[in-house]
Amino acid sequence: MESPLSRIIPKMSVFEYYTNSELETENLGKAYAECLKPGDTVFLFGSLGAGKTTFVRGIVSYFSNSIVVKSPSYILVSIYDAIIPLCHIDLFRIDRFDHIIAGEIAEYFGDESGIKIVEWAEKVPQEFVPQKVIKIYFEILSIDRRKITIETINESNNSECPAS
Ligand SMILES: Nc1ncnc2c1ncn2[C@@H]1O[C@H](COP(=O)(O)OP(=O)(O)OP(=O)(O)O)[C@@H](O)[C@H]1O
Ligand SMILES: [Mg+2]
Repeated sequence: MESPLSRIIPKMSVFEYYTNSELETENLGKAYAECLKPGDTVFLFGSLGAGKTTFVRGIVSYFSNSIVVKSPSYILVSIYDAIIPLCHIDLFRIDRFDHIIAGEIAEYFGDESGIKIVEWAEKVPQEFVPQKVIKIYFEILSIDRRKITIETINESNNSECPAS
């Protein structure tokens, strides 16, 4: 029976994956991209070299086979003109996520026509975190092994998709 609370507290799904190479992480990103839809915001958490950009490369390759994703640690926002507009934000160089940065990024966060992907999402203070966000955590287990945890809020009944 559905409890009254389940109507108030959204159900969360957590999926754990393990990859053993850069290519496996890229392929996971590509497979996961099928679950994304316009308006989605994806926050990526994890340390230097954990595999965030590699995963983004996989997502982007699902939507376009001609776009080259560079590790844009020195660029704040990259826009890729794919079937669905993709906005890749990298906060690596941001020391303090204040209202000025938030203002610059808000227009992208608010864009419901595209998919927004944010690296170094741990730098976004809680007050600026959009209400509905997919969170993906990258952990370095060894030189080639990564644990990738996808945390989503359920909206539909598509059990094939962690994003649903
Ligand atoms: N299983 C794996 N998945 C992803 N990358 C791996 C894996 N094993 C080794 N690597 C290496 O780790 C590095 C990951 O780099 P990537 O740019 O994707 O990380 P990042 O999390 O975006 O780092 P940064 O915080 O600097 O932006 C690459 O050099 C890649 O070859
Ligand atoms: Mg990166």
